[in-house]
Amino acid sequence: MDKAWWKESVVYQIYPRSFADSNGDGIGDLNGITSKLDYLQKLGIDVIWLSPVYKSPNADNGYDISDYEAIMDEFGTMEDYDRMLKAAHEHGIRIVMDLVVNHTSDEHKWFIESRSSRTNPKRDYYIWRDPVDGHEPNNWGSCFSGSAWKFDEKTGQYYLHLFAEKQPDLNWTNPKVRREVFDMMTRWCEKGIDGFRMDVISLISKPDGLPDAPVMGGGLYGDPNICANGPHVHEYLQEMRNTVLSKFDLMTVGECAGVTLEEAKKYANAAGTELNMVFQFEHVGLDGGDGIKWSTKKLPLVPLKENLSKWQNGLDGVAWNSLYFCNHDQPRIVSRLGNDSDQYRERSAKAIATVLHMMQGTPYVYQGEELGMTNYPWTSVDEFNDLESVNGYYELTGKVGMDPKELFPMIAHKSRDNARTPMQWDDSENAGFTTGKPWLAVNPNYTKVNAKEQVSRPDSVFHYYRKLISLRHSSELIVYGHYELLLPDDPDLFVYRRYLGDEELLCAANLSEHARTLDIPERFRDGRVLIQNIPEHDVKDGNMAPYEAYVIRKAR
Ligand code: GLC
Ligand code: CA
Repeated sequence: MDKAWWKESVVYQIYPRSFADSNGDGIGDLNGITSKLDYLQKLGIDVIWLSPVYKSPNADNGYDISDYEAIMDEFGTMEDYDRMLKAAHEHGIRIVMDLVVNHTSDEHKWFIESRSSRTNPKRDYYIWRDPVDGHEPNNWGSCFSGSAWKFDEKTGQYYLHLFAEKQPDLNWTNPKVRREVFDMMTRWCEKGIDGFRMDVISLISKPDGLPDAPVMGGGLYGDPNICANGPHVHEYLQEMRNTVLSKFDLMTVGECAGVTLEEAKKYANAAGTELNMVFQFEHVGLDGGDGIKWSTKKLPLVPLKENLSKWQNGLDGVAWNSLYFCNHDQPRIVSRLGNDSDQYRERSAKAIATVLHMMQGTPYVYQGEELGMTNYPWTSVDEFNDLESVNGYYELTGKVGMDPKELFPMIAHKSRDNARTPMQWDDSENAGFTTGKPWLAVNPNYTKVNAKEQVSRPDSVFHYYRKLISLRHSSELIVYGHYELLLPDDPDLFVYRRYLGDEELLCAANLSEHARTLDIPERFRDGRVLIQNIPEHDVKDGNMAPYEAYVIRKAR
């Protein structure tokens, strides 16, 4: 397998709005990030994926961009950005930018021109269609509820928005659009950035003729995922590679809603004609509800193991995996798969981290995950900021007629806002995130769960992540080794081995509240324990306490 720095890296995702506020307006910002680089260096990460910091009216917290080459007022200035980039590089940390080019904001100058008349030269930068029998051009729904089409009175046509109304989709069939996007990307690369995380990049090529889609849960609209892996997506990405990506030393990861294993082999092919790796969604969809995302279920372990193992084995040698449980769109993993009670929060957070970080691929840590931050105890829909949660609540309790008492706990459990509550830095007011009023509520558990306390305590979740990261940095077996799942049907234990040449390791975790036993294969019994989350336990006796995890390397 070819070696590459981005295969050997660990990425840390920052959601700037919620990371660190330097000026007391309650909103995280670039200077806040710069002030925390020492912390990130201590954790040992190699790359920051920065969620969008571009100019935006914030309909979707920066994922609606009105100017790709200016910084959002609330986050600072381009000088602040340049300072942050330079300081990150001085800390040995690379910066990967979020590239949101499936759509822009409706306040982007291209869209303002496009909507001004049917004959405007930029009309064809977006996807406009005539009404059909006085209605929307097809049945597609938006990922954020309602129709994916918005009627524009002025010119009497509909425009397509797979996300919010304020996020019109760009028309990638137009070569001028592709040229504008590639030129913009080149200017960022020339500034010295180190890569792109490409937002919903699997959706850029819409199916020919824009046919109706199968109806989604809720029964009102067609599933916009009909646009996933569309007819020209690979061609566009190859063009992007030839025009921009190949000219710089970058890390590229495509967020690929609706990606299958077979499609991922194309996007992230080892020959490198498109992207380095993709984010797939199958494993984080396993706790979904009946036709809808919302549910109060736990992630089921047997299907989770089966799915992750399919990706481990399926891409080995032919493409490259991204390893993640958390990001700004996902609830907190310790509340979703682990146990966020006082008794088991730390231990289960470490166990989950162990099984993720010992796999083949590039691991992603989302801010606060390294502290075992939990979901927020929501009590009312008015507390949410996220438009997916808010719109979903009103559509499903309104037109669809679901019982609010049944739905609310499901949204509370799965809402993206669980990931977006402010980073918990210390036990002072507002968790040290801001001296002002935070834009979204701070989780009340910050007095117990915070970075300051964990950095000062050697057996914390923070130091456990630090160790996992440093193990990866010192081991080709962990980065490049092959994978084999053991005990696939065991409902409590997640156990696998990695092997490369004559080296081998065993990764074992008990992801349940019961004590269990594990018959450790003979060849590991005189091996070396690389990491364990109950340090005082001699793991080789075969007993596994609730949420116990460890990694043993076979003796040479
Ligand atoms: C991606 C982002 C998400 C955003 C959406 C629309 O899924 O991760 O936060 O809302 O795209 O840009
Ligand atoms: Ca601020």
